Amino acid sequence: MHSEIGLIERYRQFLPVSDDTPVISLSEGNTPLVPATSLPRKLGKPQLQLYFKLEGLNPTGSFKDRGMTLAISKAVESRASAVICASTGNTSASAAAFAAKAGLTCYVLLPAGKVALGKLAQAILYGATVIQIDGNFDQALDMVRSLAAECNLTIVNSINPYRLEGQKTAAFEVIEQLGRPPDYLCIPVGNAGNISAYWRGFRLWREIGKAKSAPRMFGFEAAGSAAIVRGEPIANPETVATAIRIGNPASWKEAEQAARDSGGLIDSVTDEEILEAYAMLARSEGIFCEPSSAASLAGLIKQLKAGSIQGDATVTLVLTGNGLKDPDTALKLSETDMRAVPADLKKLKEVMGF
Ligand code: F0G
Repeated sequence: MHSEIGLIERYRQFLPVSDDTPVISLSEGNTPLVPATSLPRKLGKPQLQLYFKLEGLNPTGSFKDRGMTLAISKAVESRASAVICASTGNTSASAAAFAAKAGLTCYVLLPAGKVALGKLAQAILYGATVIQIDGNFDQALDMVRSLAAECNLTIVNSINPYRLEGQKTAAFEVIEQLGRPPDYLCIPVGNAGNISAYWRGFRLWREIGKAKSAPRMFGFEAAGSAAIVRGEPIANPETVATAIRIGNPASWKEAEQAARDSGGLIDSVTDEEILEAYAMLARSEGIFCEPSSAASLAGLIKQLKAGSIQGDATVTLVLTGNGLKDPDTALKLSETDMRAVPADLKKLKEVMGF
């Protein structure tokens, strides 16, 4: 089903590109929308029509590739020579990959010790200059803003307007794959760009008559980093879901507006709820996403219990990143005895209980 045509070619008419824009693509987008099989029953809601948008199947393993194909293509069009971003990991991996493809220099600033191993490995191998900051994402982003202005670098964080324009294409795909918009879209919230981008996409297709309705947008922050829910920035955000460990989201206002205008909300979920949902997705549906992505299922479970999402609704969960990026968290949860068994059939059968 994957096509080698990237999303700029597929959705050209809805994107700020012209014939002069050089298209830098890794065949991103066109990710599967997979129906749930056993989860609705397990959650006690057998009538729930639940679908997973598997954004971890993008070329660098996260949804960031949708915005990055556009941001890097426009950077090349404007003759930029170097790009820079702050990142909790996925943006840096994606920026590094597209910059490599375009032949651009790429600098990435990461919060030291708080980036999942796979993401760090990606940024390094794609050839970015990787700098770990002794501080958090919000501090790194502030430094990126100053550096970019002083040193003539192009920022490819989601404050770059092309990022959200590219990311809105995920909403188009959800409508095309489902044949209509879902009733609800559940999505993790970190820097709050993705929820804003989906809402732009859904709103646009409703406005131009390609869809009759738009989903209610339900965004979920991690409880230790829930600035929007608390209504104030958090100086020291914490969560096991390191991708959304952000205390002062850049797209705060647009995300709040998306929730309000769509009749949805932004809520928070605890690390415990996130990890439970993370394991549940793997064991019940065979889907390995990263912990941050599981915030969308944790949030759905919370809202079903609260009665703010009906049990017979059509719900799309956005699973933003691939679980392979963060093997440490998966292994920490494991109860499997990792000690080796002797290469002896009798011993093996003993261990396996046969
Ligand atoms: N899920 C994953 C896997 C992410 O990497 C991010 C953000 C989000 C959700 C939240 O999306 O920021 O648009 O609200 N990661 C950024 C990064 C911050 O640097 O990779 P958001």
